[in-house]
Amino acid sequence: MQKIRIYLHQHRGRFVRELCEYLRFPSVSADARYRRGLGACAKWLTAHCRKIGLITELCRTRGNPIVMARTPRRARSKNPYYLVYGHYDVQPPEPLELWKTPPFQPRIVGNSLFARGASDNKGQHFAHLKAVEAYLKTGTELPCDLTFIIEGEEEVGSPSLAGLLRKHRTRLRCDAVVTSDTTLLGLQYPTLSYGLRGICGLEITLNGPSCDLHSGTFGGSVENPAMALCQMLAQLRDEKGRITIPGLYDDVLALSPFERSALAIHPFNADDYKKSIGVPELFGETGFTPVEHRSARPTLEINGLTSGYQGEGGKTIIPSWARAKVTMRLVPHQTPEKILALTVAHLRKLCPPTVRMNITSSPGSDPYLVSPESSKVQAALDALRDAFDCEPLLAREGGSIPIVDEFKQILKADSLLLGLALPDDNAHSPNEKFNLEVFAKGMMMSAHLWRRLARGQRTAEG
Ligand code: BES
Ligand code: ZN
Repeated sequence: MQKIRIYLHQHRGRFVRELCEYLRFPSVSADARYRRGLGACAKWLTAHCRKIGLITELCRTRGNPIVMARTPRRARSKNPYYLVYGHYDVQPPEPLELWKTPPFQPRIVGNSLFARGASDNKGQHFAHLKAVEAYLKTGTELPCDLTFIIEGEEEVGSPSLAGLLRKHRTRLRCDAVVTSDTTLLGLQYPTLSYGLRGICGLEITLNGPSCDLHSGTFGGSVENPAMALCQMLAQLRDEKGRITIPGLYDDVLALSPFERSALAIHPFNADDYKKSIGVPELFGETGFTPVEHRSARPTLEINGLTSGYQGEGGKTIIPSWARAKVTMRLVPHQTPEKILALTVAHLRKLCPPTVRMNITSSPGSDPYLVSPESSKVQAALDALRDAFDCEPLLAREGGSIPIVDEFKQILKADSLLLGLALPDDNAHSPNEKFNLEVFAKGMMMSAHLWRRLARGQRTAEG
């Protein structure tokens, strides 16, 4: 490890410069105007992987290209085989006026590298690429064979990757998938996530009068779609913070006593938490802690609510329509299909006859849970200990990574989720950043990981 440690240390400045170059591509997947930015970003990444000694392939899809890059390996290699997953697409940067400097012009302040995509997810998978570069460039034998799969559509639900996994099912059959796209709770709290929430979403539109009406002339005799929508949405949860959709909790897996005690040791201070996000009080379902609320319980959120006049001053109208964008986070063993069906049926019941309702939904993704006791998880925890020099935590991540469940379904592969984003890295928000100390530790963690996993496998087999 000494040669690798020295290499990673000596080349740190260049790694940061390269990461900045990568971050300059505006690879926003949600917005068609950025399509060329995504293509150029994928090309740059492919060339970069080749430069560090990987064998690369740029796979076209109906959407954005997928970069596949594998380590050179001996014929009939008996090494353990892992996939490393990441995504080069990023969330839209808006609202631009809240960024202190432009989102695609990376800026370093102290230990923070600011740019859209810095932590979600370019910086995180770059740490793995640099660890592999260190093995290859120092002539150190890499004890595992690896294939990197870096896609460009994670932030829009990974519509193309499952097809590619099916197509290359045989050659992608692996021991597990390693992904750094979750959070660690702090530099002193390296974290392995053994679960993810799933997600499903719908857009609800209520149509009322054929055009906006004068609220004096018509008000009182005609339904207001905005009011009707608010009343419907307000009925979706009760005063205890529980979602009221019948059947929604039927399949929810209860937290085991082991999990509750593992989550209870997470560093969490309600006052600091409130202050950091600027809320006067916390919210949450009765009977659960905030850490449990945000990782192991289902949620229903209004992400956007639009109706009527939004401009300056007032306008006395009954709006012609109202729309809400809603997403729900799912926990094992809920499925997006069933939850969507229950939700739509319930909304139909709640909808008054005075408006017409139109609902569209997105396919969503399944939640994920793996045993935190497997030998691979233990090896990964060892790699976190090696690099961070402290005791790692086990967590269930509240966010979603749609393809993780597909890795399980299609390749029968579990995922090791070793997050390198800090909770205050502003993922999906203005002034997103990546901590360069975490970057350095992340590279070391990756370097240790392949050794630890290979050793664990030999022990298990021997
Ligand atoms: N890196 C995140 C997943 C994540 C979210 C990890 C929160 C840790 C905390 C990923 O890029 C993401 O944002 N996923 C989306 C998926 C959705 C668009 C289908 C999410 O969770 O909202
Ligand atoms: Zn994201």
